[in-house]
Amino acid sequence: MLIDTYGRVATDLRVSLTDRCNLRCTYCMPEEGLQWLAKPDLLTDEEIVRLVRVAVTSLGITEVRFTGGEPLLRPGLVSVVERCAALEPRPRMSLTTNGIGLKRTAAALKAAGLDRVNVSLDTLRPDVFKTLTRRDRHKDVLDGLRAARDAGLTPVKVNSVLMPGLNDDEAPELLAWAVDHGYELRFIEQMPLDAQHGWKRDGMITAGDILASLRTRFALTAEDEDERGSAPAERWTVDGGPHRVGVIASVTRPFCQACDRTRLTADGQVRTCLFAQEETDLRGALRSGAPDEEIARIWKLAMWGKKAGSGLDDPAFLQPDRPMSAIGG
Ligand code: GTP
Ligand code: 5AD
Ligand code: SF4
Repeated sequence: MLIDTYGRVATDLRVSLTDRCNLRCTYCMPEEGLQWLAKPDLLTDEEIVRLVRVAVTSLGITEVRFTGGEPLLRPGLVSVVERCAALEPRPRMSLTTNGIGLKRTAAALKAAGLDRVNVSLDTLRPDVFKTLTRRDRHKDVLDGLRAARDAGLTPVKVNSVLMPGLNDDEAPELLAWAVDHGYELRFIEQMPLDAQHGWKRDGMITAGDILASLRTRFALTAEDEDERGSAPAERWTVDGGPHRVGVIASVTRPFCQACDRTRLTADGQVRTCLFAQEETDLRGALRSGAPDEEIARIWKLAMWGKKAGSGLDDPAFLQPDRPMSAIGG
């Protein structure tokens, strides 16, 4: 079991499959991209499956989420999913993606054993999409979403980040669209995890702002606390249900006390938190021939060092060196 000194147990493993991305969202990375990890530094497909196997069979992990960067850019994705689906006990598996290329792979991912997807889409306006992501791929994302739904990768969740002056007036429009298409929409507060270190607390749209904007058009009823469990999203039913909308308020209403996550970067480092300063190397152990028991021991020890929370409210808060795109959302 992966337990920390605050008694939290990690059952949810988030695996970053690549730090690369085919978009350049302004709240995430600069126009020119980043210094990507070198191929030999990346875990191989075999190494990933082995770590997931150790996590599932020896460490109590029941949920595996594949993230990036953009995980659809990883050539071995379908095969990794397929091999993880064959593990005993079989973990539930999901993918967090920008949706580009999903049209082509949704059916194969479903057949390989993927359960569901979360797709990022911040705007319904192609021109705003182009400004926000610096790429003209809006249609690809919409096509990807539809393909995911048609393939049964459900519930399909949509993640939206609102940026002042760009898409902050779009919350009600996005919700009407999501309800119409059967997607579960969640708004995410912008976090200080961008590569440019440009985040400012006064510059972000808060959960309070988002809810106020949604309430101009919809009646929202808060979901029971016990239904939330360890989910990062607080949820509301929309106009009496059954549709729901979520807000992930990592900055203004952090949920660290219920955190059930452990993370693996594409180069094989364990991170106990998105905001952790420390990482623990598993790749070195793997490549020096460590047995499963040793891998499990190192992982447990890493989680024992997990901090109480993100530290965002600490005046001495420092952004981690690794940006969000290289940690996995
Ligand atoms: P489900 O609701 O189970 O589908 O999962 P999820 O919300 O964790 O998945 P997703 O990858 O879509 O994440 C949505 C947003 O929540 C992303 O912006 C993440 O950065 C944020 N998030 C995910 N995990 C954490 C976490 O441990 N801490 C914080 N503060 N934010 C997180
Ligand atoms: N703050 C909040 N959300 C972010 N995402 C990427 N960078 C940030 C950030 N700095 C979102 C993406 C995606 C999800 C995985 O995280 O838009 O929806
Ligand atoms: Fe967990 Fe860190 Fe996220 Fe808090 S900020 S919920 S401790 S990963």
